[in-house]
Amino acid sequence: MAKIIDGKKISAEIKEELKIKVQKLKEEGTEICLAVIQVGNDPASTVYVGNKKKACDFIGIKSLAYELPEETTEEELISLIDKLNKDDSVNGILVQLPVPKHISEDKIIKAIDPKKDVDGFHPASVGALSIGQKGFVSCTPAGVIQLLKRSNIEIEGKNCVVIGRSNIVGKPMSMLLLRENGTVTICHSKTKNIKDICKQADILVVAIGKPKMIDSSYVKEGATVIDVGIHRDENNKLCGDVLYEDVEPIAGAITPVPGGVGPMTIAMLMNNCVEAGINK
Ligand code: GUN
Repeated sequence: MAKIIDGKKISAEIKEELKIKVQKLKEEGTEICLAVIQVGNDPASTVYVGNKKKACDFIGIKSLAYELPEETTEEELISLIDKLNKDDSVNGILVQLPVPKHISEDKIIKAIDPKKDVDGFHPASVGALSIGQKGFVSCTPAGVIQLLKRSNIEIEGKNCVVIGRSNIVGKPMSMLLLRENGTVTICHSKTKNIKDICKQADILVVAIGKPKMIDSSYVKEGATVIDVGIHRDENNKLCGDVLYEDVEPIAGAITPVPGGVGPMTIAMLMNNCVEAGINK
């Protein structure tokens, strides 16, 4: 029986801690403000943006919502970002992704001032992480580190295997585990002997985007298994990249889906906003 890593509880703890910090900052005259920009009305994005606003309200962070029409041009979006970059009362800027196809995601990410890049997607933020300098860290992998630390799972000296090499999760996840002195291996779709490599992992972080792909044959007994995936299965039930019921009996610790990594992303976004307010 694995220890269940309760992301809902840990994210609630982090949000409570941030609420106290933000209250103190307010008393000292500092108000934290996050600008959230959504272009178009993708229903999933609307839900995510709504959840971010709710978290801001809970913690006491001011949120500015910019809901722009689908036909907004790249120039118009960049000009709004420029305006927010220059506005001293705005600490964080987040453009909800994906943006419509006629807008370059790359250009938008680069337009945000790295000091306000609370998503941690700007090349300057990514570069800072890889050379051990201060900067914002992508929220989901930062949340995984918090799950491990707050569950007293040691990373130093451990074999850490990350499956997936996306810019938002896999790559920053690997850098963060390395920063914590883990021995890190990154697996991806072209990796040979992926099962053998996963079997060596003390900590296995799965971010492949394939429902229920990782069964117990990939997992060493007693390993910590972190599931970053989120999907709907054939019965419309939420599931991860890990076949939970098969892996849980042999794992040492495991994150459920839902209620594992998912709730941590917003908690870490809120943490980045508070840091942006403190270090501006
Ligand atoms: N779309 C899905 N997840 C995210 C995220 O973490 N940040 C932004 N900006 N867009 C997203």
